[in-house]
Amino acid sequence: MSHPYPPDHRQPVLGASSLPPLTEDTHWYRRAVFYEVMVQSFKDSNGDGIGDFPGLMSTLDYLSWLGVDCLWVPPFYPSPGKDDGYDVADYMSVNPAYGTLEDFTRFVREAHVRGIRVLVDMVLNHTSDQHPWFQSSREDPAGPFGDFYVWRDTPTGYPDVRVIFTDTEESNWAWDPVRRQFYWHRFFSHQPDLNYENPAVRRAVIDVVRFWCSTGVDGFRLDAIPYLFEEEGTNGESLPATHHFIATLREVIDTEFPGTVMLAEANQPPRDVVAYFGSDDQPECHMCFHFPVMPRIFQALREESSQGLRTILAETPPLPQGGQWAMFLRNHDELTLEMVSDEERDNMYRWYAPDPQMRANVGIGRRLAPLLHGSQREVEIAHALLLSLPGSPFLYYGDEIGMGDDYTLPDRYGVRTPMQWDAGPGGGFSDADPADFVLPMVSSPGWDHRAINVSQSRQREHSLLNWLRKMLAVRREHPAFGIGSMSLLSTDDDAVLAFLRRDESETILCVTNLSSSSRAVRIQLPGMGGWGLKDLATGHSFPTVNEHEYVDITLPRHSFYWLSVSMPKEQA
Ligand code: BGC
Repeated sequence: MSHPYPPDHRQPVLGASSLPPLTEDTHWYRRAVFYEVMVQSFKDSNGDGIGDFPGLMSTLDYLSWLGVDCLWVPPFYPSPGKDDGYDVADYMSVNPAYGTLEDFTRFVREAHVRGIRVLVDMVLNHTSDQHPWFQSSREDPAGPFGDFYVWRDTPTGYPDVRVIFTDTEESNWAWDPVRRQFYWHRFFSHQPDLNYENPAVRRAVIDVVRFWCSTGVDGFRLDAIPYLFEEEGTNGESLPATHHFIATLREVIDTEFPGTVMLAEANQPPRDVVAYFGSDDQPECHMCFHFPVMPRIFQALREESSQGLRTILAETPPLPQGGQWAMFLRNHDELTLEMVSDEERDNMYRWYAPDPQMRANVGIGRRLAPLLHGSQREVEIAHALLLSLPGSPFLYYGDEIGMGDDYTLPDRYGVRTPMQWDAGPGGGFSDADPADFVLPMVSSPGWDHRAINVSQSRQREHSLLNWLRKMLAVRREHPAFGIGSMSLLSTDDDAVLAFLRRDESETILCVTNLSSSSRAVRIQLPGMGGWGLKDLATGHSFPTVNEHEYVDITLPRHSFYWLSVSMPKEQA
């Protein structure tokens, strides 16, 4: 089969073996801290108002200072930009506005020099309607790409499949006036779904993955992965054929590019998501986002109750060997409310998106700090949970300084505004006229780049940024946060969440007061009578667990402790 690419696009540009070695730990992703960075909004190097790879490269020292181990870079491929790059028009090159393939590989190399890995987004479910495969498919139904998409004469197939982008789409079928047929799309109508029943499609996307592996990337976020196959009479999500394809992809990666990590974006309940890890015999992804935990963190802060979190954690099944959850508070999308009940969704809208403009699809288009009304304590509590619940934390660019949003922008662009580096005219993002920026900077009083930026945050000792950096350093010292087991503990106050994280070498008690008032709480620690407690952040001792196997702790409002728990003989 011939590809409609210039052949030189498909040549590996840099052998992974020529890269400097990173740590040998094949389970590095279980201990890593991830950071999502949108290249177009992070740092502009050439003054055109659009962030680019040389710009991103120049920020690597900052990211390393912060304590980031791995970057997730959303799509940076050529694209008409109708879904901010998730509408891919060419899988095997770099959007010229963001730089060249050489800029990209240099960025990966420089990240590796600093011990930072790179995950790239793979949008395998669909392409842009501008992709040459689609153009060829619509113009030449009998040609080599005629069957690359899902075409029908009537828009009636797969009636049980839900519409995801409810703000803009009414149906998952769209009419193509060129081919004079309907095509299937799970997202925007300009994003036709690839036809995975066609073996040539499966081969072509595996080649795309091989191509990016050859540039030295460390892994992939697999976008919208539950939707690859369709089947009549089903909801079209997580079908056996989809799992089979993911397992095949994993086999190719394990054989040809061992150590490359696959991360599933599957917005599903935990019992269904867990299937994306596969089994020991037939592994699929190394990591999956844990979608349902996220809204429950926000819920817990308003309800001042740990109940929702306890329930979802108890419902989360154990993972196969080597699997790891990807935990997050916010990302480039809406704060999705697909995984909560109707009543919970109504509450979330009431608390966090009272103005309809703040809503996007089935969710909320706001950033972390404004969602939490700029309360540093609440932002810290949310991060304390993110860093201590089982899984690897994913930070979202700008959230480390408490950046604001602009919910008057369309779609989900309000949470993708330029990074605020300093108080200068372009916020340190770009030297271009701000009117030419890829997106407007946040301008609301108290949230603009003069009020909130990296430079000032670094200088202020008690800033969110310095606090987060410190907690990331504490977390790094204690691998149990990444690889340890988790067990929920009973307390006599529902507003306080308490659990143990434990690996072979240590036991950590994580206690979080979710409420806006001080709480004195009794925590049961079965089998630990006489054990001592020590604050991981300060080294200060806490009361010893008494012979009745409980300890009383007082926590100020919105506060938490991470305490090492050790047997009397282990204490210094
Ligand atoms: C991405 C979105 C994107 C969609 C369609 C998602 O899951 O995170 O930003 O619009 O896939 O590609």
